[in-house]
Amino acid sequence: MFGWRKQKRADKERALPEHIAIIMDGNGRYAKERNRPRINGHYEGMQNVKKITRHASDIGIKYLTLYAFSTENWSRPQNEISYLMKLPGDFLSTFLPELIEKNVRVLTIGSPEELPDYTVKTVSEAVEKTQDNTGLNLVFALNYGGRDELVQAIRSMSADAVAGAIDPEDISQGTIDQYLMTRNIPEPEMMIRTSGEYRLSNFLLWQSSYSELFFTDTFWPEFATEELDLMISQYQKRSRRFGGIDEEEV
Ligand code: IPE
Ligand code: IPE
Ligand code: MG
Repeated sequence: MFGWRKQKRADKERALPEHIAIIMDGNGRYAKERNRPRINGHYEGMQNVKKITRHASDIGIKYLTLYAFSTENWSRPQNEISYLMKLPGDFLSTFLPELIEKNVRVLTIGSPEELPDYTVKTVSEAVEKTQDNTGLNLVFALNYGGRDELVQAIRSMSADAVAGAIDPEDISQGTIDQYLMTRNIPEPEMMIRTSGEYRLSNFLLWQSSYSELFFTDTFWPEFATEELDLMISQYQKRSRRFGGIDEEEV
């Protein structure tokens, strides 16, 4: 019985996810385990972003969204924040040529206003230089928070309603999608968190309503392409019911 069900599942394995979102966590603990400063963990984490991005591009993922800095991360020590703000520059100065060669388009979500000018500048340059690329969309969540995103969306929606540009009666889920920072980006089918923490920490709250969740104890700097592949193959076997029932039970 179970064998038959399993076989039936395998026959119906779904396609690759279009969008994978990752909460890259555990950099600090990775460093601590090695008696290194936390920022070394962030450096190694950045190296791993290159590996995972390369792989996602190679296997044909369309969107990879990486949580790089949350609206809550400002509560960290100043030296750590400064280092994290320099990382996008370091990453792009060494990796942008390869991203261009791989036809990757760089995008960002999050509020740029609080970020240092040099961070915004390097990231916007990468966004501009890759804007016509048609391969993987690499989305960096920088100073991003799901609640902050909703507050901003509701503010501009209300302003549009007051100005008469939209009728409150016409507001649908699709309207809300269009006011979010992720407009034009499909919802993530997979949401991964590394380092053995089991929470969303304010990441893509609206968009993850039906994401398949994956947790691993691996710290982000050590999260390997093989583990990602394993999660993808598990995703392809999971039953996604969206509130309904399995097709075979109809
Ligand atoms: C995730 O690693 C990276 C960022 C939040 C920027 P952490 O720095 O949170 O690592 P841990 O959780 O302290 O190990
Ligand atoms: C989430 O990790 C944010 C990023 C990965 C950028 P945190 O380490 O900040 O999350 P909490 O504080 O453990 O929830
Ligand atoms: Mg953490």
